[in-house]
Amino acid sequence: MKIIPGPASTELGEKIATLTGYGKVSVASRVFPDGESYVRLEGNVQGEHVAIVQTTCAPQDTRLLQLAFLASAAKRNGAAKVTAVVPYLAYARQDKIFLQGETVSIQTIADVLKAAGIDELLTVNVHSEPALKLFPFPATTVTAIPNLAKYFTDKGIKNAFALSPDKGAMYIAMQAQQVLQGEVGHLEKQRDRYTGQTTQTATHLNVEGKTVIIFDDIISTGGTIVGAAKILKQQGAKHVYTACVHGLLIGDAEKRILDAGVEEIVSTDSVPSKNSKVTLAPLLAEALKAQA
Ligand code: R5P
Repeated sequence: MKIIPGPASTELGEKIATLTGYGKVSVASRVFPDGESYVRLEGNVQGEHVAIVQTTCAPQDTRLLQLAFLASAAKRNGAAKVTAVVPYLAYARQDKIFLQGETVSIQTIADVLKAAGIDELLTVNVHSEPALKLFPFPATTVTAIPNLAKYFTDKGIKNAFALSPDKGAMYIAMQAQQVLQGEVGHLEKQRDRYTGQTTQTATHLNVEGKTVIIFDDIISTGGTIVGAAKILKQQGAKHVYTACVHGLLIGDAEKRILDAGVEEIVSTDSVPSKNSKVTLAPLLAEALKAQA
């Protein structure tokens, strides 16, 4: 297998190449003044199974097209198999029709990636697992939640309360609890499908005087975490932290979260930023080795 670090995940791709010991094929890339993307493989892929590492956070559409172009370039240059390693999978939240007139965006993305030459996809904490069933080739997800929880135990924070901001993400809090060895709970969250606005409900949680870590798959505008932190503070939590796999942190999300009393934001390098304190490289290297 050869690793191709895509322009959106160069550092992560290089770490994966080092950990696996597989060869690396570099990519030359640029975006033309009019916004169009250009990519070129700088090494030989003839007869190889290649893994293209390319996250698809903003600008999502550019990143997705770069991934498609790289897959197509790999196949044109004789690659035997292309695996896309996409830590943050854009459009996975639109995995069904919520309102009449919409489309299933992730299915269209899947079809485009298939047409470009991708044979298999590996992602991390996909927002919705059923979305992966819509891909016309094998698509799997691995979880980085234990790695995020370990960041806190390594820091000396033991037995913290693992909280998920809604019931649907309770499985995330439970994965964290396995490492933290503390209590677990969730809030209730409702979303207005027309405006996108969410409201959170304060169920009673046993958090008085405790350290609580709010776990989510994605932090986007930060609204969910700000709402949860306010409820935790009202209920007497002593320390509040937050951890997510995909720290999109749009606009002033980080400031709003810290202003709400959250002491630290921890994310992975799925979306590279100064909050990326946990690397996905070992997790993805293991998953690729199992495939090779
Ligand atoms: C949604 O269900 C996700 O799991 C996250 O809770 C959501 O994407 C976070 O969005 P925001 O940061 O804008 O509240």
